[in-house]
Amino acid sequence: MPRIVAILSNKGGVGKTSTTINLGTALTYFTRDTLIVDANISSPSIGINLGSPSVPIALNHVLRGSHSLDEAIYHHKTGLKVVPSSLKFEDFDALSMENLRKHLSSSKSDIVLLDSAPGINHESLSALKAADEVLVITNPNLSSVASSLKTIKLAQRHGKEITGVIVTRAGHHTDMSIKEIESMLHEQVIGIIPEDSLMHNSLKLSQPLVEVSPNSPASIAYKQLAAALTGMNYVHR
Ligand SMILES: Nc1ncnc2c1ncn2[C@@H]1O[C@H](COP(=O)(O)OP(=O)(O)OP(=O)(O)O)[C@@H](O)[C@H]1O
Ligand SMILES: [Mg+2]
Repeated sequence: MPRIVAILSNKGGVGKTSTTINLGTALTYFTRDTLIVDANISSPSIGINLGSPSVPIALNHVLRGSHSLDEAIYHHKTGLKVVPSSLKFEDFDALSMENLRKHLSSSKSDIVLLDSAPGINHESLSALKAADEVLVITNPNLSSVASSLKTIKLAQRHGKEITGVIVTRAGHHTDMSIKEIESMLHEQVIGIIPEDSLMHNSLKLSQPLVEVSPNSPASIAYKQLAAALTGMNYVHR
């Protein structure tokens, strides 16, 4: 049974997909067999961000029971395994995510990262229920941090372990401090991913940032986080 981690945020656009892709890639560097799954079925973007917007077999087909999880896995050149979601409305229409955990349980990977839809809804709740643990993604501003409180309460209500909070796009002078964020959320910040101008470039190239710009500030932070999550040491040279 893999370690299943939901990447959640209540607010949209804070960096869940960027974290799923880059943390996932960084985990493969620490020899973890890592699978990332696009559980944002209403607005999938993992396939788009990795240059394969359209695939013949997607998570949707697994959830409908027509294909196995194995058949929906694509192998990225970094070693990362990827299950994208379909962009087609007819693949999304009336799709239930109830059995997501059951399908993911068949994965032979060490770790599964679930990219989720923002907000509190059927999709994010399904990702939460499918997971063993949760990483809460927030930007360092009051509206994002305050809305993360709901995600944390929801995860607690469902008895899920909150592995920690990851602060993304950090480094603006208007940012809340890490101490302020921790004291508002009563959870530990285990990763600080700086604002990185090269993130845009990696999207243009349809590749993970940690692959195309391994020494950029956010790449180093994602590798440090991957090391921390797996009990490894990472020293940037
Ligand atoms: N560390 C960073 N530095 C600079 N830009 C970033 C960083 N992290 C994310 N971004 C940018 O922020 C935008 C939103 O990121 P992303 O798509 O990962 O958010 P999301 O939480 O998945 O959004 P949604 O809720 O819509 O699914 C993207 O344009 C992405 O390139
Ligand atoms: Mg996203």
